Amino acid sequence: MRKKIVIGNWKMNNDSFETKTLLNKLKKYDFKNDVTIMVSPSFTNLQNSVIYLNDSKIEVIAQNVNESEKGAFTGEVSSSMLKSIGVLRSIIGHSERRLYYNETDNILKKKIYNALKNELKIIFCFGEKISDRKNNQQFELVNNQLSNTLLDLNKSDWENIILAYEPVWAIGTGENATPKQVQEMHFHVRNWVKINYGSKISNTVPILYGGSVKPNNASEIFSQPDVDGGLIGGASLNHNDFIEIINSF
Ligand code: 13P
Repeated sequence: MRKKIVIGNWKMNNDSFETKTLLNKLKKYDFKNDVTIMVSPSFTNLQNSVIYLNDSKIEVIAQNVNESEKGAFTGEVSSSMLKSIGVLRSIIGHSERRLYYNETDNILKKKIYNALKNELKIIFCFGEKISDRKNNQQFELVNNQLSNTLLDLNKSDWENIILAYEPVWAIGTGENATPKQVQEMHFHVRNWVKINYGSKISNTVPILYGGSVKPNNASEIFSQPDVDGGLIGGASLNHNDFIEIINSF
């Protein structure tokens, strides 16, 4: 039985005060189901969030991490820096990082390997653009994104990996992939893991969907057999919507 997971990726939103206000609302809510909940505030709010959520089951994760151990990389943050403040997991490969900060598969592979080497768990994002889907090349594109980054891992690394399918055309657009499209891709990805790492790992690796998940579509998406939860952007900034999404399982 795989874990159910819902993650709020706050992106570059919420200052220190807004972060605390939102965390307070989430912290006070009595979640009845067994969903693993994570939130991803900005770097400046990570440490306070960890302290603030100390007695809560909500995990605080980073939105990004550098591929090097340490050194002259102005403005960057390392795995060990995150771990030293109690952040044990980071998103890697979000399409906004690929698009606006030129993070190529080659860089992302380094980020993945360096994070895992430093015992930082990862959520690895991938997904096609609208042009790929229009040309019916979404499966090939995702195959390439996975093969360029995730081959050559140790089997034991997979305990520390969550995959997140986020079609670029569905992010922040209000146009979610249909539950059928999501299931098709998640099945495809699980099969990629099976071919490369065997069925034990493919049956256990969590695969999340991200892209315009809202209270009104979450339950149908989450009920697909190969979907283990969601990576939520806009709707995670509103505590009522985020809670409703978590309760959609
Ligand atoms: P939206 O939920 O705003 O579409 O964003 C999804 C996302 O990018 C999560 O990482």
